[in-house]
Amino acid sequence: MARVPPQLIETLRQSREVTVLTGSGISAESGIPTFRDAQTGIWAEFRPEDLATPEAFASNPRRVWDWYAWRREMVSEAQPSPGHGALARMARTLSGFNLITQNVDGLHQRAGSKDVIEYHGNIMRDKCSVEDVVVERPAPGDEVPPRCPACGGMLRPDVVWFGEAIPAAALESAQLAAERCDVFLSIGTSSLVYPAAGLMEIALRNGATLVEINPAQTPVTKLAEFALTGTAGAILPQLSAALLEPE
Ligand code: OAD
Repeated sequence: MARVPPQLIETLRQSREVTVLTGSGISAESGIPTFRDAQTGIWAEFRPEDLATPEAFASNPRRVWDWYAWRREMVSEAQPSPGHGALARMARTLSGFNLITQNVDGLHQRAGSKDVIEYHGNIMRDKCSVEDVVVERPAPGDEVPPRCPACGGMLRPDVVWFGEAIPAAALESAQLAAERCDVFLSIGTSSLVYPAAGLMEIALRNGATLVEINPAQTPVTKLAEFALTGTAGAILPQLSAALLEPE
């Protein structure tokens, strides 16, 4: 198991602002599959263009709704992982802390993290596909997808699909958090999907120390000053415990 270097603890203690970006790897230990891992990833079994694009929803809304309903079920049965818990504790020990997640599962919030920047939305919320506003899901009825109570348009999950823009507020706050931080941690993401993957580039350009936690190599590994090879669940609890120890 990767040991947390003492210099990293020192760097975190001295930092004024830390920004974390998480990806599906941190939820893998909650039993939610990642996207691109070769055998187990969601995109090994399903084609994103059939399920996660506006075109897929336009051509077969029921199939898209049912697939998200299946994923929502999986998320509601999952529990936050040790990595989610450790990040919630770390936030309380550091002076400035921003948490950006690409995950749509809400597990950071359930572990106690506050003010999470949801870059790709949240699978537990629905929005009206016509008005683009969040809508309370009506009681299950015959129609799939259910209809917007206000305008009758089809409801869809409040997540970002391929080809869609990141919600403006999340885009802006994530950009600022990447610019301002002196340490940027990339955790459990393949760093292949933009614009999220561009956040570490922004942090690096602004002089931040880049840290990666991932059992596999990614495009970020060689850029990181600290590349910790291991799982979020093994490394983050060590990191949060070390930050709590007296200096
Ligand atoms: P990926 O599936 O692309 O990458 C998951 C990463 O997690 C890989 O680099 C794994 O090595 C790593 N990993 C696996 N288990 C881990 C563990 N226990 N601890 C730490 N890391 C682990 O998933 P994302 O990078 O999250 O977008 O994918 C980014 C976006 O692509 C998603 O938000 C989603 C997807 O298509 C949309 O749906 C818009």
